[in-house]
Amino acid sequence: MSRLAGGVVLVTAQEAPLDPDDPGSPEGENAGMTATAFLSVSLEPPLVLVSLRTGSRMDDLIDEQPLWGVSVLSESQRHIAGRFAMKGRLSDRLLFEDIPYTRGEITGAPLVGGALATLECRTEQRVEAGDHTLVIGRVLNARVPSAEGGPLLYFKGRYRHLN
Ligand SMILES: Cc1cc2nc3c(=O)[nH]c(=O)nc-3n(C[C@H](O)[C@H](O)[C@H](O)COP(=O)(O)O)c2cc1C
Repeated sequence: MSRLAGGVVLVTAQEAPLDPDDPGSPEGENAGMTATAFLSVSLEPPLVLVSLRTGSRMDDLIDEQPLWGVSVLSESQRHIAGRFAMKGRLSDRLLFEDIPYTRGEITGAPLVGGALATLECRTEQRVEAGDHTLVIGRVLNARVPSAEGGPLLYFKGRYRHLN
């Protein structure tokens, strides 16, 4: 599969606040995970799919609350991909600190500034498949923050760009 070139996305979500009934409760932490196992599934309704390692932080988080975001990374965002692919990461709050992002209007998920495209999704279906969970999400919102620039690609274990 390392011979299959793929685009790279950052899947994100915001944890639920500590006390959802208290408007003064601190915001939940941001979480992000680098993924290449992401694809479009259906146009009507608009569905996408991401494959998450079962038991990963992102899988656990999205299992608890169904709202998540996707940022399609550009070739200038390799450092973001590398950062969010590290295992046993420290607090995600620190990882997002110097990354420009907006919060999805519907999902609250961080959406990376300068990404080629961003999506907001709600989980429709979860399918256990071996050691991964296929998460199918309905696209609730789609934006194109940065029309310029090429995609970040992953091929034979390395980040690449076109040309
Ligand atoms: C280029 C690249 C693509 C990846 N794609 C996926 C993916 O599609 N699904 C997945 O579960 N993990 C994928 N990973 C691994 C996760 O990014 C990594 O395991 C995760 O961030 C670690 O989080 P954890 O500590 O919660 O397991 C990928 C890693 C890299 C470097």
